[in-house]
Amino acid sequence: MEYKIASHIAEMKPSAIREIFKVLADPKVIALSAGEPDAASLPKEEMAEIGAEIFANEAAAALQYGMTEGYQPLRDLTKKRMREKYNIGTDDDELIITTGGQQTISLFTQTMIDKGDTIICEGPSFIGALNAFRSFGANLKSVPMDDEGMRMDKLEEVLATTERVKFIYVIPTFQNPTGRTMSLERRRQLLELAKKYDVLILEDNPYFELRYEGEPVPTIKSMDTEGRVVYAGSYSKVLSPGMRIGYCIANKEIINRMVVCKQVSDVHTNLYFQMLVAKYLERFDLDAHIADMCKLHKEKRDAMLNACEKYFDKRVTYTHPNGGLFIWCELPEGYDSFKLCQLITEKKVACVPGNAFSVDESAVCNGFRMNFSKPSLEQIETACARIGEAMQEFLK
Ligand SMILES: Cc1ncc(COP(=O)(O)O)c(C=O)c1O
Repeated sequence: MEYKIASHIAEMKPSAIREIFKVLADPKVIALSAGEPDAASLPKEEMAEIGAEIFANEAAAALQYGMTEGYQPLRDLTKKRMREKYNIGTDDDELIITTGGQQTISLFTQTMIDKGDTIICEGPSFIGALNAFRSFGANLKSVPMDDEGMRMDKLEEVLATTERVKFIYVIPTFQNPTGRTMSLERRRQLLELAKKYDVLILEDNPYFELRYEGEPVPTIKSMDTEGRVVYAGSYSKVLSPGMRIGYCIANKEIINRMVVCKQVSDVHTNLYFQMLVAKYLERFDLDAHIADMCKLHKEKRDAMLNACEKYFDKRVTYTHPNGGLFIWCELPEGYDSFKLCQLITEKKVACVPGNAFSVDESAVCNGFRMNFSKPSLEQIETACARIGEAMQEFLK
């Protein structure tokens, strides 16, 4: 049987990095390829306690259908926390619960994108977002970054020369994959350029509370006075990725359209897990929990930075992120990190080659991503020593 797959889906090629990820089936392989918090930091006992209570006292509510917009107590608690603590959201905005930040990205794209519209993103950027954009038939244009985030001179060039740009997608804090944070000045410039060219901004911010040092930088959404910024938040990196609880804060008109898309997507986000998060927020101190997570993750980030210093070829550069889960390494210009990652795989370590995060996956990329939250301290040391050996062979 020949299946007539929709053209914009048929155009999406299975990624070459899948080959590299096949090695993860081998338990001896040290995975630096993940994007999840340290398992030791998940609030297991607290969730067990609340979960038992929900099924003892509110089982019927947890087992019935819920509202598409989300479980009301969770919406209210999230709205209050984001507004009071981070100045995110205005009276013209609304908040809905989504099935992870990933669903905010896809519902917003589905709401806004006609086939052939352009989305501008950072180069490199989060693979889950790029694939969501592709799946709705968007054209992608990436703008290079430096240590302060997306370069605004290059962004303006793209905005001035590209038709039908609908929105700019950024991960301004502890970016995936680079770990970089966009400076305040750049955030202001970004908002100005978005106004000048009348495009929206999708601010994807799942990592910002995992800050290990340095002063917090205000979100772009907190500087938005006209409903130009759509904010994608998530409990994945601060509570649990498996629960799949995210949220979107945006102007009511956009939210209302996204709700229609969500009704035909998953009707609503899993109610039991929404109730778990709401009760966690009521009963426990999320900020204290995040502070504990930061302590744990900072130790691992420091261990990885020390191991990079100790084992990596001096021609290789790497970011020093103030938070988040990733370090981004760059080989000297012209070297293909995909080939290096294949060599690293032979040494039983998995990293993600940079072309996975590129708009053009077939172009040579000299960067690759390493995660420090999942491996143990011992595994970080061993993995970096093996990567260092692979670099020696590769750069020879
Ligand atoms: C930048 C970025 N955005 C969004 C997500 C999606 O996270 P979730 O759907 O678990 O909230 C991730 C996950 O890794 C991410 O790195």
